Amino acid sequence: MEVLTLENKLDSEKDRLLRQKAVPVKNIDNEIRKIAENMLKIMHEGKGVGLAGPQVGLLKRIFVTHAEGDGPRVFINPSIIWTSQEQVNYEEGCLSLPGVYAEVKRPGKIKIQAWNEKGRAFTLDLTGLLARVVQHEYDHLEGVLFIDRINEAKREKLLTKLNKHTKLVKRKKVG
Ligand code: NI
Repeated sequence: MEVLTLENKLDSEKDRLLRQKAVPVKNIDNEIRKIAENMLKIMHEGKGVGLAGPQVGLLKRIFVTHAEGDGPRVFINPSIIWTSQEQVNYEEGCLSLPGVYAEVKRPGKIKIQAWNEKGRAFTLDLTGLLARVVQHEYDHLEGVLFIDRINEAKREKLLTKLNKHTKLVKRKKVG
């Protein structure tokens, strides 16, 4: 399992996976628990605060989070059932878009319903960082990236930066 990074190319298999809508998890069994465990491990290694199934090439509705001041969490088949009218700005990054960051406006508070890795249903009222991370990860399940939520000029700038960053990393690996 590895994190897919956006290549921003029409014929990219990675981009296709990152841009597709994920399908519901059918059974919360040992297999999905193992996947969740691996996703948490990869997220921690990448120093991320969230990671969604499509980012590891798995088109299933699952994501994990570990925000500051909170513990690790697993969200399976989540639905955001309420969002606040009030929106807030917050700088986002993404393990699939290394080296780029942007301020994104989203609802400040949300209510989410999901199942955890034990198959138990839960509902959470979220605010602050976790509300932000959860909305970002939920977007991944819909094939949406944070750069889709900023204006076009900014997005183009970030994609140029992303391409440079990716080339640099590739060159480093060779050299
Ligand atoms: Ni992300």
